[in-house]
Amino acid sequence: MDELQGRVAVITGGASGMGLAFAHRFAAAGMKVVLGDIEALALDVAVEELRGDDVEVLGVRCDVSDAASVHDLANAAIESFGAVHVLCLNAGVATSGPLQEQTLSDWQWVLGVNLMGIVHGLDAFLPGIVNQDEGHVVITASVAGHTAYPGLGPYSASKHAAVVIAETLHNELSASGSRVRATALCPGFVDTGIFESERNRPEHLTDALAEPESDEDRELRTAFLEMIANEARKPAEVADLVHDAILNETFWVFTDEQHAPNITNRHAAIVERRNPAEGQTIAEDALD
Ligand SMILES: NC(=O)c1ccc[n+]([C@@H]2O[C@H](COP(=O)([O-])OP(=O)(O)OC[C@H]3O[C@@H](n4cnc5c(N)ncnc54)[C@H](O)[C@@H]3O)[C@@H](O)[C@H]2O)c1
Repeated sequence: MDELQGRVAVITGGASGMGLAFAHRFAAAGMKVVLGDIEALALDVAVEELRGDDVEVLGVRCDVSDAASVHDLANAAIESFGAVHVLCLNAGVATSGPLQEQTLSDWQWVLGVNLMGIVHGLDAFLPGIVNQDEGHVVITASVAGHTAYPGLGPYSASKHAAVVIAETLHNELSASGSRVRATALCPGFVDTGIFESERNRPEHLTDALAEPESDEDRELRTAFLEMIANEARKPAEVADLVHDAILNETFWVFTDEQHAPNITNRHAAIVERRNPAEGQTIAEDALD
C-alpha cells in the first residue's frame, strides 16, 4: 500500500504490547483503527487513550480462538468503517517447559490462539481484502518460527505454522497478480506482556494439577524478565518497522540479529543433513 491516510486497520491482540503500538503508529499515519482483544479492561484503556488523541477507533471484545467471535469483529469493523485495508493477526500467548510437561490444555490454548486465531482471521477478513484488491496482511510470527529451542514446543509449533501461512499467502497473492501484500513479522525479544500470558488463559484450559514453579525455574524467569526489561526492543520500535514494511511491501521483518546465528545453523544443518544443534533454552541463550 502506498497510502495509509484514511484507511482502516484491524489489529488482533490490539489492547497491549505490540498490537497497541501498531495502533498508535497507524493512527499517527492517519488510519482508523479497530482493536480486537480478549482482555476487556486493557481494551477499554487502550480505546480511551486513542480517543484522547482524536483517533477514530473501535474496540471489540474478541477471542481469536473462536471463529464466530472473529467474524463478529469483522462485521463490527465493516459496519463502523466500511472496509478493512490492513489486517494484523497479532494476538498471541505462550507457555514454556519441556514437551513431557506440556499438557493437552497447554497445546489447545497456545494453538487455539496463535494458530487458529490466524486461521479465523484469514477466514473472516481475507476474501473482502482480496476482492477490493487493496490491503496488507501482517502476521505476527516470531524468531520461534525459525528455531527449535528446548522449552518452547507448543509456542514454536504455532509460530512455525504462522511463518508458513504468511509465506503461502505471499506466494498465492504474487501468483494471482493481486495488489494485496503480506508480511511475516518475526520479532526477537520485545518488552511486552507476553511473558504474563497466563492472565488471559480461559479456565477450561487451565490445568488444576499443574506443578508449582520450582525455585530454579523462578530464578531463571526473574533473570530473564530483567533482561527483557533492559535489553528487549520496545513495542514502538517494532511498530515503526511494521509501518515501513507496509509502505515498502517488505515480506520478512525481523527486529534484531540476536537469533540469526541459530537460524542460519538450523538451515545449514537441514541442508547438510546434520542433527539439530540447539541445546539450550531461549532464555538461557538470551542470558549468555
Ligand atoms: N514479546 C515478545 O518478545 C515476542 C516475540 C516474538 C513474537 N511475539 C508475538 O507478538 C504477538 C503480540 O504479543 P505481545 O508480545 O505484544 O504480548 P502482549 O501479551 O502484550 O499482547 C498480546 C495481546 O493478545 C491478547 N490476547 C491473548 N489471548 C487472546 C485471545 N484469545 N483473543 C484475543 N486476544 C488475545 C492479549 O490480551 C494481549 O493484548 C504475539 O503473537 C506474540 O507471540 C512476541
